[in-house]
Amino acid sequence: MPFEMILTETQGRVAVIRLNRPQALNALCDQLMTELGQALRDYDSDPAIAAIVITGSEKAFAAGADIKEMKDRTFPAVYFNDFIGERWETVLEIRKPVIAAVAGFALGGGCELAMMCDLIIAADTAKFGQPEINLGIIPGAGGSQRLTRAVGKSKAMEMILTGRMMDAAEAERANLVTRVVPAAELVAEAVKIGAKIGALSAPSVAMAKEAVNAAFEGTLTEGVRTERRLFLSLFATEDQKEGMSAFAEKRKPAFGNR
Ligand code: HXC
Repeated sequence: MPFEMILTETQGRVAVIRLNRPQALNALCDQLMTELGQALRDYDSDPAIAAIVITGSEKAFAAGADIKEMKDRTFPAVYFNDFIGERWETVLEIRKPVIAAVAGFALGGGCELAMMCDLIIAADTAKFGQPEINLGIIPGAGGSQRLTRAVGKSKAMEMILTGRMMDAAEAERANLVTRVVPAAELVAEAVKIGAKIGALSAPSVAMAKEAVNAAFEGTLTEGVRTERRLFLSLFATEDQKEGMSAFAEKRKPAFGNR
């Protein structure tokens, strides 16, 4: 099925998925989320791809879930046809690094989608917010949890209770984003990070991602145990032998990348 609401391209081993519904500031309707999920799964299983960038337009990464699509939905309809679980959580299943490259508005579900990615690179034009309170709802795709873990209780509480947006500089100070770059360099910068990761050993990249994510999921003891198991299991890979031999022999490692 050709995509209608996203554009995809590859730059070397990095896939770039661009949300492309400009007339609605990339509002995340069911079709867009289904297409995004399909593209993410396809790239995750493609051995030629090492990392995935999700981006939007200059004006909006995404202005949230599609309010016009949601407004008449009844409780039984949203409860039994769980549109969040079905379509929104695919990005969490992806084992390759997923980088959000955010310019313009990342609001509501748009901010939540960015926070589900492994890291966020922001353009200096980026604006993050959880304005759901203005609609008589609250964040529904993890925003109250991930924003609080990223920026702390006081700032998250203020943003979620008042709907105030955070600009790029504040988002960087608050540790919501990795760094801020000029808007014109946004996607190139994200692709550069993806390419750097793509040159490394794929098993260690996947396990590093799993280990960092474990810090979000459970207790410190469980996380440390997970890290140790993953660390030890990497001694079963050829890339570990290659990486360490290359260091000892003062040469660059040639990882298998699979
Ligand atoms: C549907 C949207 C939309 C959205 C913008 N549009 N955001 N349509 N859902 N979330 C549409 C507008 O209706 C308008 O369509 C067009 O995009 C341009 O938007 P404008 O408002 O004219 O642009 P501007 O004045 O520049 O204001 C930009 C904005 C504003 C500040 C981002 O659009 C805005 O406040 N949007 C809603 C943000 C929001 O509340 N997000 C949270 C959604 S709830 P027309 O046809 O009039 O040109 C959510 C819950 C997630 O995300 C829970 C998990 C599923």
